[in-house]
Amino acid sequence: MNPQPKATQVARPPAIENAIAIASGKGGVGKTCLAIALCHALAKRDRSCLLFDGDLGLANIDIQLGLSLERNLAGVLSEKHSMAQAVNRYPAGGFDILAGESGSGALSSLSAAQLHRLIDGLRDVAPSYETLLLDLGAGIERSVQLLSQAAPLKLIVTSDEPTSLTDSYALMKLCHAAGVPGEFRIIVNMAASRHDGEMTYRTLLRACETFLKFRPGLAGIVRRDRHVREAIRAQTPLLTRFPNCDAARDIEEIAGRLLAGTP
Ligand SMILES: Nc1ncnc2c1ncn2[C@@H]1O[C@H](COP(=O)(O)OP(=O)(O)OP(=O)(O)O)[C@@H](O)[C@H]1O
Ligand SMILES: [Mg+2]
Repeated sequence: MNPQPKATQVARPPAIENAIAIASGKGGVGKTCLAIALCHALAKRDRSCLLFDGDLGLANIDIQLGLSLERNLAGVLSEKHSMAQAVNRYPAGGFDILAGESGSGALSSLSAAQLHRLIDGLRDVAPSYETLLLDLGAGIERSVQLLSQAAPLKLIVTSDEPTSLTDSYALMKLCHAAGVPGEFRIIVNMAASRHDGEMTYRTLLRACETFLKFRPGLAGIVRRDRHVREAIRAQTPLLTRFPNCDAARDIEEIAGRLLAGTP
């Protein structure tokens, strides 16, 4: 892993105390399905949660859940409605959703000032919830950096593929180089077994210890499970459709540990 990417300096938004960002660097490692299931698991434990689609221009929380939501962040951006008005209740999961808009050019090319306004709007609605989960996009561009910075806890999702490990490391390194405060914890997704997942975590941990001199904790391991894909294809929440499958049980455990505050 190359130890020296350059941090792009952007003004740092003040933290949203109850926000948890879910990021990965690499695309397609399961951020969105983990974010949805984690939010669902927290809601099942009576936690009031807001799920924010931070993959702004390629948003797909609504798609994974089969929802057609009239109000979303594109409407907030064009001042059709306020951030609070754009919140949608999702009764089947017991949580609220702030949806993006897939294919929205406006949302995918926000200026730093627009991103700061969006994050300020999010900060305004945050006190109505115990937890805000931010599902971030792939990559390490400005929106990912700013939203990561706003969340005191960052869950970094990786698989065992070298590209995924490298990108997760690069994202943590950028944040580290920019002096981003807060805690990082790793979720190993699509692990062949818990043992394999632990090996993957240790690989990433070693790189962080050696080059960045910090130790991200392990938030949890989610096993590879065909039910995840089946639930997405059916546009139904994993925890509703297959509540006892391996991945669902792993995610429930992560939610329990998050609430207990133990990595
Ligand atoms: N634990 C798992 N077991 C098996 N398949 C999984 C698992 N987690 C995710 N997947 C598969 O990975 C695919 C990508 O998931 P998802 O869209 O949530 O990733 P993402 O990181 O949000 O992608 P993007 O970077 O494009 O936003 C899903 O369609 C699903 O089929
Ligand atoms: Mg996604």
